[in-house]
Amino acid sequence: MGINNVAVIGAGTMGSGIAQVAATAGCSVLLYDAYPQALERAAMQLKNTFSKLVEKGKYSNAEAQSILNRITFVNALNTLKNVELVIEAIVENLEVKRKLFAELETIVTPHCILASNTSSLSMASIAASVKTSGRVVGIHFFNPAPLMALVEVIPAVQTRTDVLELAVSTIQSWKKTVAVAKDTPGFIVNRVARPFYSEALRIYEEGIADFSTIDHAMKSLGGFKMGPFELMDFIGNDVNYAVTESVFSAFYFDPRYKPAFTQKRLTEAGFLGRKSGRGYYNYAEGAQKTDPSTDEALLNSIFNRILIMLINEAADACHLGVASAHDIDQAMQKGVNYPKGLLAWADERGIAQCVNEIDKLYEEYHEDRYRCSVLLRKLARNNQRFFS
Ligand code: NAI
Repeated sequence: MGINNVAVIGAGTMGSGIAQVAATAGCSVLLYDAYPQALERAAMQLKNTFSKLVEKGKYSNAEAQSILNRITFVNALNTLKNVELVIEAIVENLEVKRKLFAELETIVTPHCILASNTSSLSMASIAASVKTSGRVVGIHFFNPAPLMALVEVIPAVQTRTDVLELAVSTIQSWKKTVAVAKDTPGFIVNRVARPFYSEALRIYEEGIADFSTIDHAMKSLGGFKMGPFELMDFIGNDVNYAVTESVFSAFYFDPRYKPAFTQKRLTEAGFLGRKSGRGYYNYAEGAQKTDPSTDEALLNSIFNRILIMLINEAADACHLGVASAHDIDQAMQKGVNYPKGLLAWADERGIAQCVNEIDKLYEEYHEDRYRCSVLLRKLARNNQRFFS
């Protein structure tokens, strides 16, 4: 018995994408937004998206039309009273979300699952805004939702097991890969990916290499599709900095997640990246990128340092039960397109070698940021791996 009637609240970037995914999977979708302009914009964008998909031969005209027909744009919350699943994708503000959930509870049936697409807020706090908190769960899509394969499903401490199971099977039936994550800051991807940015920024701030050299090292030696600075420019420095700051404070200011002044200053200056025409790089027409260094030893040391910090973070997330080793590896490959799972990468490099590399950084800096995950140390001591 699957879910057929879904509502998505918030018709912005994520909400319209999620509506598209659900409708494509055959669900009837009510897409609600508090602002009529947002609904008009979403309707227009979805129509354009499907015209392009028809042009590309992905769907026939009739198929595209029937998917679009399954999405109804609504501007009154009480139209949601018969849906089986609500996915909220409104502004990332705890109080606004809690108010919405409390109101939703008075509208929908007792069986309806209430989900949030939050990327950084506590699911326990959101669930606590309703009396029947057992039906609340995090369902976190990645941007753009129709293209990214991964969805993190996050049970709050209050979430009932049957609700978690139904959320997982529903999202899988929408042809997405599910990784179940503990309700901890950044869940899997937004936590484990932090060193990709922060260690790159640190290497730059120490004057070891420039942006293009660091990007080049990660692409040419690691097979990452974009380097850290290219990716931050693509995401937007404002958005990326806000996530880093929120993860840092949510972890009680653990120095491992410390934001970088370089990124803060760029954000303050309005150098947000591609969207503002300038970030770490200049996107003005005719602007030239500096050539990366070709010093092999330098490129290797940059790549090894960033990779080991990523592996250490993934190992610690595994150690602390944020998700299974399998789900962590899958999440990084399908949520942010990493070329390999980080824990499989650790196995490949050798766990003892990983411990050695991170300990060397610690010996050099004596900063808590470079502390080795206990799990890596234990595996190395017992001559074990993450995957057999
Ligand atoms: P957005 O700003 O594009 O869209 C938010 C929409 O919600 C707007 O259309 C706005 O009119 C509507 N809205 C705001 N308050 C409302 C309310 N009280 N009731 C009904 N509608 C309301 O935002 P975006 O980027 O789509 O993000 C939505 C959620 O998804 C946030 O929680 C965000 O953290 C999360 N998220 C965002 C990702 C991204 O890359 N943009 C990735 C994954 C999650």
